[in-house]
Amino acid sequence: MSTAIIGVGNIGGTVARHLIAGGESVIVAARDESQAKALADELGPNARAASVEDAITGADAVLLALWLDDLREVIPQQARRLDGKVVIDPSNPIAFDASGQMSRTLPDDQSAGSIVSALLPAGAHYVKAFGTLAADALAASANREPQRAALFYATDDATAATTAERLIRAAGFDPLKVGGVADTGRIEAPGGDLHQFGVNGEILDLEQARTALTGAKQPA
Ligand SMILES: NC(=O)c1ccc[n+]([C@@H]2O[C@H](COP(=O)([O-])OP(=O)(O)OC[C@H]3O[C@@H](n4cnc5c(N)ncnc54)[C@H](OP(=O)(O)O)[C@@H]3O)[C@@H](O)[C@H]2O)c1
Repeated sequence: MSTAIIGVGNIGGTVARHLIAGGESVIVAARDESQAKALADELGPNARAASVEDAITGADAVLLALWLDDLREVIPQQARRLDGKVVIDPSNPIAFDASGQMSRTLPDDQSAGSIVSALLPAGAHYVKAFGTLAADALAASANREPQRAALFYATDDATAATTAERLIRAAGFDPLKVGGVADTGRIEAPGGDLHQFGVNGEILDLEQARTALTGAKQPA
């Protein structure tokens, strides 16, 4: 089982390091192949660099660690190769201006997950995961003790759920499903009540995550 990681920036690089530490094999790909090669060299024998096309073709699961605007370009280009793969989407509808001010790039009632899942071919197994913590928190929280940190995911697809749970565990976290594509907005930022930014920046353990998930749904 190999996971392709497309985009080796903050999220792609962090997840690649965690998966390698957890015994998984990864194929990393970047726009600039020398960046992917440098990461693969750092990660060791269970990692290799490839073109975006070859990485997707050679993997069972594909983490698209790209900004939403880039996903809108890359998914149509790679649609044929993504068919049949588990596709993991960490994207948030977020932008930063020159002063670092954050803004939302989609209407409040539209999630990045609804857009990304709709771009994929029918045979792809879509799951939203690995985007619920800020990248520095994701990097620092793997295999946390005494309680592992939880990572929420959302999917309507049983195959995608099984793979997401395996990869989240391998990365050093406890997985917790929030629902399907219709619920992806809850684990996106800004605005998602279960994203790290929606829980006052806290990094929840599994019990706290379960409470946040069910508690948030109870009537006031
Ligand atoms: N950063 C966070 O704290 C955080 C937290 C949660 C979720 N996310 C989400 O995760 C996604 C990635 O964020 P990030 O912070 O990791 O971004 P990033 O550090 O900017 O990395 C994105 C990477 O994608 C690469 N890329 C762009 N177009 C590509 C293409 N066509 N083929 C291959 N690689 C391409 C970029 O390469 P170039 O440098 O060559 O353009 C860059 O290395 C975003 O959707 C974001 O919303 C981010």
